[in-house]
Amino acid sequence: MSERAGVSERIRLARPDVGAAELAAIAEVLVTGQLTMGPKVKEFEALLAGACETEHAVAVSSGTAALHVAVLALGIGPGDEVIVPAYTFPATANVVALAGARPVLVDVDPQTFNLDLSLVADAITPRTKAVLAVHLFGRPLDWDALEALVPAGVTLVEDAAGALGARYRGRPCGSLGAAGCLSFHPRKIVTTGDGGALTTNDAPLAERARTLRNHGWSPSDGYDDMPAAGFNYRLPDVLCALGIPQVERLEELLAARERVARGYEERLSGLVELPAAAEGDRHGLQAYVVQLDRRDEAMAALRAEGIECQIGTYALHHLGAYKDGGNFPGADKAFERALALPLHTALSDAELDRVAEALARFA
Ligand SMILES: Cc1ncc(COP(=O)(O)O)c(C=O)c1O
Repeated sequence: MSERAGVSERIRLARPDVGAAELAAIAEVLVTGQLTMGPKVKEFEALLAGACETEHAVAVSSGTAALHVAVLALGIGPGDEVIVPAYTFPATANVVALAGARPVLVDVDPQTFNLDLSLVADAITPRTKAVLAVHLFGRPLDWDALEALVPAGVTLVEDAAGALGARYRGRPCGSLGAAGCLSFHPRKIVTTGDGGALTTNDAPLAERARTLRNHGWSPSDGYDDMPAAGFNYRLPDVLCALGIPQVERLEELLAARERVARGYEERLSGLVELPAAAEGDRHGLQAYVVQLDRRDEAMAALRAEGIECQIGTYALHHLGAYKDGGNFPGADKAFERALALPLHTALSDAELDRVAEALARFA
């Protein structure tokens, strides 16, 4: 245990892996004076498209903006229903509601944290326009199974906010649906502070997303006309520059997170439920979320020892905005038992020991 004046050093929940390359990239942008809609946006987008193996990536100001633009670019609006998991970050459902459509909550499998696919078919109605499927915490959803059970005409969109680098049966998350939505919030593997991107192989969809992110101007690279209203959801060049070296090191960043995950596995196996991807998939490890019955006690004790930790995410039906959505025992279970442990590339073995020792007392 590392100690200073008798006080254990704080173990951070997340810590961006950024350094000299990122500083240099940002400095380069500041020197050029082209702070937004410049070459770094295109460079970042090309790298993201490469990482997700899609033809297009559209950088936007957050993961939420990526989801919002995806929903609007798909023409989803009043009268439409969109299936979303009951256990997710609220943005997944919020963008549907803000587009004027109805988010239809479907329970999750508390073991995987992802949509319980046995419940999806029953939630589909003639109004269902899309499923906004989340790869929660970076665990790929069983995409082929989802595809097999939705009728033609229902569009599949990936909330891949935490799944950059994750792979489903060898295919990158972000390339599986009609559109993928990434987040670069500081708890994500690649961070720009705030930021996001929409990935797709559909050129007209990408163009609609570009138009929506830039006030509605069309074509998106010119200012000829504004056929419909849009937002300012742009991601500035400074932030794209911050993201570029990280995407270039994506494999290295993922490998470093996998080292931490293995470290937790060695220490916690058999004590608490551990996260894992399905056989043949690669977990994106956006968060390392374990499950245990005495979660609240454990969370309080870890925090008291200077170990940052957090609940997994939210059970939407317990939030005011979605409280009449129904009963979701899987989401309840996940909400009550999930605990996100520190996860970043600089975590030392001694820190992993400290977390594991503190947590083992609640197993
Ligand atoms: C599953 C999921 N969807 C959407 C978002 C929203 O992303 P952002 O914070 O970049 O807006 C998050 C963010 O944590 C998330 O975890």
